[in-house]
Amino acid sequence: MLELANRRIVLGVTGGIAAYKSAELIRRLSALGAEVRVVMTAAAQEFITPLTLQALSGNPVYTSLLDPAAEAAMGHIELARWGDLLLVAPASADFLARLAHGHGNDLLTTLCLAARCPLAVAPAMNQAMWAAAANQDNVQKLKQRGVHLLGPAEGEQACGDIGPGRMLEPEELARRVSELFPSQRLSGRRVVITAGPTREAIDPVRYISNHSSGKMGFALAAAARDAGAQVTLISGPVHLATPDRVTRVDVVSAREMYEAALARVQQTDIFIATAAVADYRVKNSQTHKIKKQDNKGQPPVLELEENPDIVAAVAASDPHPFTVGFAAETREVEHYARQKIQRKGLDLVVANDVSQSHIGFNSDHNAVTAIWADGETQLAEASKTQIARDLIVLIGEHYQRRQKPNGA
Ligand code: PMT
Repeated sequence: MLELANRRIVLGVTGGIAAYKSAELIRRLSALGAEVRVVMTAAAQEFITPLTLQALSGNPVYTSLLDPAAEAAMGHIELARWGDLLLVAPASADFLARLAHGHGNDLLTTLCLAARCPLAVAPAMNQAMWAAAANQDNVQKLKQRGVHLLGPAEGEQACGDIGPGRMLEPEELARRVSELFPSQRLSGRRVVITAGPTREAIDPVRYISNHSSGKMGFALAAAARDAGAQVTLISGPVHLATPDRVTRVDVVSAREMYEAALARVQQTDIFIATAAVADYRVKNSQTHKIKKQDNKGQPPVLELEENPDIVAAVAASDPHPFTVGFAAETREVEHYARQKIQRKGLDLVVANDVSQSHIGFNSDHNAVTAIWADGETQLAEASKTQIARDLIVLIGEHYQRRQKPNGA
């Protein structure tokens, strides 16, 4: 399992003899699936060249705050926002002091001020410097601010001293970094999610649709990505930004959503149908706008025909992905949800009561019951982001169980 799949790490390298270990650290982080971009201070470049770290990370190395070419390619604020973690290894005593006091006098300290992601430091310095009261004050300040302190290790130092101050070995450091992230239980899995409403044309300007905003499906896409999955989001017309690192396929009608889902079914491990798909489309939809006078004062009669059932078709395909449906009900929620498991051949169904306006359609919150053949669990009212995270954990557990039915 690649514990750091889909993770982006900005690695800051400061000046110290341990800087040579950052080459190996990049290899270890990349081997766990992370994408690494390196930032070096001027002092770090006295110990190891940017070219070495560029070759190992496969990305340009950033060295200066005032470099017009680097700024044009990826500005320092953009770089600060790019990362899921800003890791400084090795972190010298001077760097820790500047970080603790909020300096922004080079690229790395500026990134630390601008970053919204967690910050971790792996100190590396002489044991007496590590123990110095000023340094310990700085370290305490950083810990209180929520900076993750990785190390230092104890042992023999480059200067011949023995004591705490060595940078953790790259293998240990990479492992500690992977522990900072939430579970990667869907690492390498391909997840397809349908979201939002569909629109069924009456004529070129009118359509039949529903109140789905896409929020539940988009939250699930972000949560599945955070669990390490490669996510494709097939979305009806919504006003939401695509979650970072999620592939989005835009569709309008149920038939388009059906085509998009079925085209991917053989490359899908887990399929989650959050979309509120129109069960019927207009059989006699018009190619020109319907005019009042066309019907001699009579309202037009819409003839409906059934749309294909996307999630049922996915569940019936051979081989078929682990298939999760949603059930939007206004009464007898669990009863109808259980019927859907049978009728649509689902592995799991997530039932929500859409008669309550503060949850379900278009709300930022939801409360659901996840139901499977021989069990169920309730997720109390929470933000759709939280419900999505909990559902992804649950779906991951059931998916694993199907892969290894005897718990092997
Ligand atoms: O988008 P939001 O505003 O965040 O709201 C979220 C939601 C309420 C839309 C979502 O939580 C939800 O309940 N989605 C399913 C809505 C629905 O259409 O339920 P249903 O009971 O009609 O359909 C059951 C299942 O079959 C669903 O997984 C649906 O995607 C699927 N289906 C239905 C019809 C069809 N032709 N093809 C399908 O795949």
